[in-house]
Amino acid sequence: MFRSGGAREILLSRPFTQGVPETRTFPLPLWERLERQVLKEAGTQALLHGDPQGAEPLRKAIADYVNLERGARATADRVLVLTSSQQAMTLCANMLLDPGDRIFIEDPVYYGARRAFDAAGLECVPVRVDRHGIVVEQIMESPRKAKAVSLTPSHQFPTGAELALDRRLALIEWAARYQAWIIEDDYDSEFHYAGKPTACVQGLDRHDRTIYIGTFTKSLFPSLRIGYVVLPPQLVKPMTVARTLLDGHTATIAQLTLARFMEGGHFGAHVRAMRGVYAERLEVLTGLVNEHLSPFVESHVPIGGLQMPCVLTCDLSERAAIDAARRVGIDLLGLSALHAAGSGKAGFLMGFAAYTPAEIEVAVKKLASALQSVALQKRR
Ligand SMILES: Cc1ncc(COP(=O)(O)O)c(C=O)c1O
Repeated sequence: MFRSGGAREILLSRPFTQGVPETRTFPLPLWERLERQVLKEAGTQALLHGDPQGAEPLRKAIADYVNLERGARATADRVLVLTSSQQAMTLCANMLLDPGDRIFIEDPVYYGARRAFDAAGLECVPVRVDRHGIVVEQIMESPRKAKAVSLTPSHQFPTGAELALDRRLALIEWAARYQAWIIEDDYDSEFHYAGKPTACVQGLDRHDRTIYIGTFTKSLFPSLRIGYVVLPPQLVKPMTVARTLLDGHTATIAQLTLARFMEGGHFGAHVRAMRGVYAERLEVLTGLVNEHLSPFVESHVPIGGLQMPCVLTCDLSERAAIDAARRVGIDLLGLSALHAAGSGKAGFLMGFAAYTPAEIEVAVKKLASALQSVALQKRR
């Protein structure tokens, strides 16, 4: 667990740290006002221990939101409020499976999921991802069964593929037949730029085999530390008990403030506003990458999310490109390490959401000249 390095995110956000939302324009005065209302009404009651399953008003607001926006089938009593998606994945890995059990994971895969599964002693079986998401035939035809599959269906991490509807349905049938679990990480589905996203797997699953994971890390701000799961009924009690062994419950004042933020329509308004901001930033980044970085990379413009994958097309190694970027104050997340050994193309992820068009322009030009210099040095 120690050697894996954990899943801690970079603390200082600088271009192009991936997965970070814009926080500089967050409506703090409104948040502060709602928090004051919570403290005034709940008084010292808010200082005591809270319900391990989560504050009822927040569970209700989350259920309403995922039903309306994600096509889920949730009720407040099936929502468990947690600290993060990361906690949800750790909980699933330890509660639903035993050490040595097999779990199908996407290849490439989100490092936080992989590390949670490895730390729980699971045998991760990588399954190829194409432009329609995870290749389900590999799961159906696998001679050895697995107890679960872990997915990022609305926006595959890191490729950006959206899982096709027929594959979602096939996975649900597979899970029902083998009594397996589908762990659905819907980490940034709020930010879909082209049309409406497909309904989440949980909403399509009539057999109650799906654990839906959501987070406010991207849609609001990372330090909030509120994530949640929508559980099949039979898992609500065991999962709630299990979370009491980790941290008891999520901070009550933050939960109640968030509930008000959602009930008052502010969450919906914030997400809509940020969707417009991020769509523009993605367009700016795409244009600048094509203009300045085309000798080095091919961009894969995503349908949603907060980051864009770029595949290296020159003879620079991924390591050399990432190191050159870091020397000029730019963070890139390499793609190779997210793939099962030897299977992936070299490249990197560029986070764009937290940077203004002007900041993106400066950073892309800096990156282009840094890559140019290492390429020249290499040729000498
Ligand atoms: C695929 C994916 N899932 C989950 C998360 C993290 O969410 P949380 O902060 O709630 O653990 C991230 C963050 O980068 C992510 O990329």
